[in-house]
Amino acid sequence: MPLAAIDMSETDLYLNDTQAPYFKRLRDEAPVHYCPNGRFGAFWSITRYADIRAVEANPAVFSSDALFGGITIRDQPPGFTTPMFIAMDPPGHAVQRGAVAPMFARKNLDLLEVRLRECVTRILDALPIGETFDWVDQVSREVAIQMLAIMLDIPFADRSKLSAWSDMAVAVDEQAGGPSPAERQAVLLQCLGYFTDLWKTRIALPPRHDLISMLAHNPATQGMSPMTYLGNLMLLIVGGNDTTRNSITGGLLFLNDNPAQYRKLRHDPGLIGTMVPEIIRYQTPLAHMRRTARSDIMFGGEQIRKGDRVILWYVSGNRDERAIEQPDSFLIDRVKPNQHLAYGSGIHVCMGSRLAEMQLRILWEEILARWPLIEVVGAPARVPSSFIRGYQSLPVRIPARS
Ligand code: HEM
Repeated sequence: MPLAAIDMSETDLYLNDTQAPYFKRLRDEAPVHYCPNGRFGAFWSITRYADIRAVEANPAVFSSDALFGGITIRDQPPGFTTPMFIAMDPPGHAVQRGAVAPMFARKNLDLLEVRLRECVTRILDALPIGETFDWVDQVSREVAIQMLAIMLDIPFADRSKLSAWSDMAVAVDEQAGGPSPAERQAVLLQCLGYFTDLWKTRIALPPRHDLISMLAHNPATQGMSPMTYLGNLMLLIVGGNDTTRNSITGGLLFLNDNPAQYRKLRHDPGLIGTMVPEIIRYQTPLAHMRRTARSDIMFGGEQIRKGDRVILWYVSGNRDERAIEQPDSFLIDRVKPNQHLAYGSGIHVCMGSRLAEMQLRILWEEILARWPLIEVVGAPARVPSSFIRGYQSLPVRIPARS
């Protein structure tokens, strides 16, 4: 295939998990690559680890702002917009990031740990033994969504609403049979109504440790518009939902695909600490982030023009042999397991990384305390998206003990 014909926005590459050899070719032969006729328009692909970090270190030229297109390869759809700080540049970005930062402080996470362990215990103890079931539906989805319900401090019974809103926020026309813009808008406005009521209740109470209370009481966010409030909620809900859900699924799949690593883990559960970041690297649940050039710039020997779309392919950077040893192997005892790009880098680096890793750690501690093995008994169904790298289902079975 001529290099010019490679189009990494093609969703089938992710649905069938066949993207890796194309990325390797781009890293080796055209690390800053132009695709003139992508599914969502022309774009540059940045595929090497060091180049991705260099772009992220230069937000003055490489913008995340929704005004110029935002953070995904597909431009933010016109009309109904929900501004969020992941899609803002300095100086506005730092103000809003600062307002929710206390939520992710270690002290607050320690408070969440106890409640999270209770959730995980409840979910695992309800699983069927000796029968095939869907790991995505019964475990990954539940753990991720219950954690969000705790962070937002909403009733347990409302967690299915949270799940529906999160799905709607990321539903794009990439997915066949997706919602119309009007349907999407109606559901998201319903979500805004729900959280506006919560805001009114929490602002009338003294400050607490949940996210709504933090946003309502912080002077930096107190006066934000309803759409900004909705946008920031969506960022936290989506940011914390698909990413952890797909890492939870990926982890079980990788251990089954690498039985020697699974055995090693059983013999030494202390390896959970290094396995968790390795799962996140190997999964890379967000395949890319996008930037838009604010001015002409020469980068990697190529002329990028003002207004060009620049895609940072984390999924490729995390397999770059120039930065990571044996990048295609899943190794649960790596010496530097955190040296990966799955959380991005620079001013927008993920805020929820410690929270995500805590969820995976607790889940694996509780799994190993119960069962020596959970078997994957069929092929995973993957998500047809070049943005969210994840799974729709994964059939598994917990063998009955003899
Ligand atoms: C495995 C789990 C996760 C992965 C792989 C992940 C990945 C990412 C990535 C790639 C970015 C953008 C970085 C950039 O542009 O440089 C990001 C930003 C963000 N993430 Fe995560 N994320 C995860 C979990 C979470 C969780 C659990 C939360 C919160 C509940 C969260 C909240 C955020 C927020 C608020 C931002 C925006 C930061 C900013 O713009 O300053 N993430 N994440």
